Amino acid sequence: MDIELNTVRLAAKQKVTVLDNYYPSAEARRYRISVFGAGYVGCVSSACLSNDGFSVVAVDPDRFKVERLAGGLAPIVEPGLAELLQTAHASDLLNATHSAADAINDTDISFCCVGTPSLSDGTLDTNHVRQVCEDIGKALRHKSDFHIVVMRSTILPGTMEELVIPTLEKASGKSAGRDFGIAYYPEFLRESTAIADYYKPGAIVFGQYADDTRSIDALKALVGHIGITPHVIPMRSAEIVKYANNCWHAVKISFSNEIGNICKAKNIDSHVVMDVLCSDTRLNISKAYMKPGFAYGGSCLPKDLRALTALGRSMNVPTPVLDAARLANTVQIEHARSLVDAASHETIGFIGLTFKADTDDLRESPLLELVEGFLGKGKEVTVYDPNVARDASQSRNFLKHIAPLLCDSIRDVIAACEVIVIGNRYPGLKDALESAARPVTVIDLARIEQPENRNVTYHGLCW
Ligand SMILES: NC(=O)c1ccc[n+]([C@@H]2O[C@H](COP(=O)([O-])OP(=O)(O)OC[C@H]3O[C@@H](n4cnc5c(N)ncnc54)[C@H](O)[C@@H]3O)[C@@H](O)[C@H]2O)c1
Repeated sequence: MDIELNTVRLAAKQKVTVLDNYYPSAEARRYRISVFGAGYVGCVSSACLSNDGFSVVAVDPDRFKVERLAGGLAPIVEPGLAELLQTAHASDLLNATHSAADAINDTDISFCCVGTPSLSDGTLDTNHVRQVCEDIGKALRHKSDFHIVVMRSTILPGTMEELVIPTLEKASGKSAGRDFGIAYYPEFLRESTAIADYYKPGAIVFGQYADDTRSIDALKALVGHIGITPHVIPMRSAEIVKYANNCWHAVKISFSNEIGNICKAKNIDSHVVMDVLCSDTRLNISKAYMKPGFAYGGSCLPKDLRALTALGRSMNVPTPVLDAARLANTVQIEHARSLVDAASHETIGFIGLTFKADTDDLRESPLLELVEGFLGKGKEVTVYDPNVARDASQSRNFLKHIAPLLCDSIRDVIAACEVIVIGNRYPGLKDALESAARPVTVIDLARIEQPENRNVTYHGLCW
């Protein structure tokens, strides 16, 4: 069997240059897999799983797709797919059917890869998801063996818990996580390089439901040979990761195009510019600036965004992505303001005033903007920032209206105020919050460790 499979694998390798691909263990290969939905995702999954030695049944209501797959032919165009399907067919590892009941009976794990298109108003059409869950649920009602259902379609956060699981449970009369397994496993493949993406994914993500580790262990066994440690995260997180990925790709493309349009108008080769930008893997293509948090500020980012968008306007080159970045920054300041407003107290303490810790630069600090807004509303504001000048002799950055608000210790700010806004992190902050002797509401813009002190009511900005 292994020699035969090796031939299949080598044939696939020649076509798609799959590197470092080893087979799943013989134990893992005992799993028989049904793939519901034989579209782009389902066909590639079926082909790759059978290429990996799993026995696979593809399920689709579409006659053309079922007939093609059953005959070892590709119903879609995807490089390398035809060859994989041919060899899978020859090894008798891939079948196709219209019958959900047969597929559920004959397999141990089901992957759901049905379409989730847009409705006319942009919302997600989950009708195929609902239908496939009903089909699978009805079949599960008559199956006594433990079966694992894995959703692979792209679905918005909450869809597993609010639609998929309730539909499966209602149709099967069984309980998810106990009577049948459930997991979410987002698909990241790109059409045209889908098979290479399957064997060399950037990341593998499994969304776990409650304490259903049995389903996660099964999934780990299926992908163990791919050589990437899967991220096992809560279901809702896994659902939104897929959207965060694709939206990030879209933003990157539109950003690059926008820089390209400005470059072209200035007779600059945009590819040279973006190549240099991408060569900086410390700040540009890295984790830097990729943590959700408070607005940007300081002497450079706001000014330089203004300058480039103004240049675009002067040349009639639209800059919607850069304009949106400016708008998004204002929105984030407003979001922080609304959290403080919602706490509805008269005394507000700010920990940090500069746009980041360890600088005395107050130019375009969003924290300063917040403070000034609350002063304008007549709130009593106290500020701790060890780097902000107390008097004019100390620094050119001295601000006359801010100096009287400054307090020398974090503890004094916490003692004096009902609401504490954490703008920057400073030594001593954690201890001061843990020892707060009376109730305070903390609005955290800097992602500190959440205090355990019961006197602290904690609100994170975007976490
Ligand atoms: N195409 C991609 O590149 C890609 C990549 C990653 C994720 N995704 C996501 O994966 C999902 C599938 O995408 P796709 O492009 O393969 O869709 P697709 O439209 O090509 O295929 C969906 C298939 O599901 C079948 N189907 C519908 N109802 C069914 C049912 N009850 N039982 C069995 N089959 C049923 C349809 O007949 C169709 O063949 C979507 O949520 C999509 O957003 C797509």
